[in-house]
Amino acid sequence: MKNKTIGVISIKGGVGKTTVVSNLGAALANNFGKKVLVIDANFTAPNLGLHLGVVKPDLTIHDVLYDNVPAEEAIIKTDYGFDLIAGSLNPKKKHQSRVNPYKLHNRISSLKKSYDIILIDSSPNLNDEMLSTMIASDELLVVSSPDFPTLSCTLHAVNTAKQRKTPISGIVLNKVRNKRYELKASDVEYAANVPVVSKICDDVRVLQALANTTPAVLQKPKKDFAFEYYKLAAKVLDKEFDDPRIRTKLKNLKKLFGKR
Ligand SMILES: Nc1ncnc2c1ncn2[C@@H]1O[C@H](COP(=O)(O)OP(=O)(O)OP(=O)(O)O)[C@@H](O)[C@H]1O
Ligand SMILES: [Mg+2]
Repeated sequence: MKNKTIGVISIKGGVGKTTVVSNLGAALANNFGKKVLVIDANFTAPNLGLHLGVVKPDLTIHDVLYDNVPAEEAIIKTDYGFDLIAGSLNPKKKHQSRVNPYKLHNRISSLKKSYDIILIDSSPNLNDEMLSTMIASDELLVVSSPDFPTLSCTLHAVNTAKQRKTPISGIVLNKVRNKRYELKASDVEYAANVPVVSKICDDVRVLQALANTTPAVLQKPKKDFAFEYYKLAAKVLDKEFDDPRIRTKLKNLKKLFGKR
């Protein structure tokens, strides 16, 4: 498989971009043995570090973009088997000016040879921040949730990516409750003309894991949401996912009906 950089975007705040980046990063690194770097490109409100227990990084993406610090120097080893370039929670005044959207791509391109997968956590604002992620990425995952307001933002994000000709590998439908009032994956696919590659349930354990600054897939590796992340990781790597839950189910069925 070729090394690739995947941007995780949405035009709506709070749908789960940062959660997807930290959990997909953890699944790729720990379940598939990949070398993974996650980068916080939400320059205005970065919080990927907080999801991973990194509160006060020495060097950040802001230093890389504004002070020409080599990106290699801003890499932090997390406790979770993958690397991080965090954002500054308290950026200096000069780190708050407009960023040239090509700069992220230029400043991180040297890292690509050292990682199997780089995941970029985007800002939800359709401005130069999100453009930075689009330009720096080989492909995009669009995070959505199954309601009309988020879908309308998702369609906007999809159209913007299509205009820029950045390939979209799929939509991650997050916070799914499987209620009748929710949009179905097929509705979202029909409206966006993009496949839903993952359906992650709404689960309070994701919030509990965040309170422990640990990716939820590592804290609760056997829950359904974790298996969805393993499936998504396999998809990203163009691999088949052999779901152990289905194997167990088949084994039980065989036991029940006496077949071998
Ligand atoms: N599947 C899930 N089940 C329950 N809670 C979730 C799930 N996914 C994310 N969350 C919670 O939703 C909140 C927002 O998630 P997150 O910060 O990842 O969103 P975001 O899209 O990155 O937001 P922003 O646009 O502000 O950067 C967090 O509290 C997170 O724990
Ligand atoms: Mg975020």
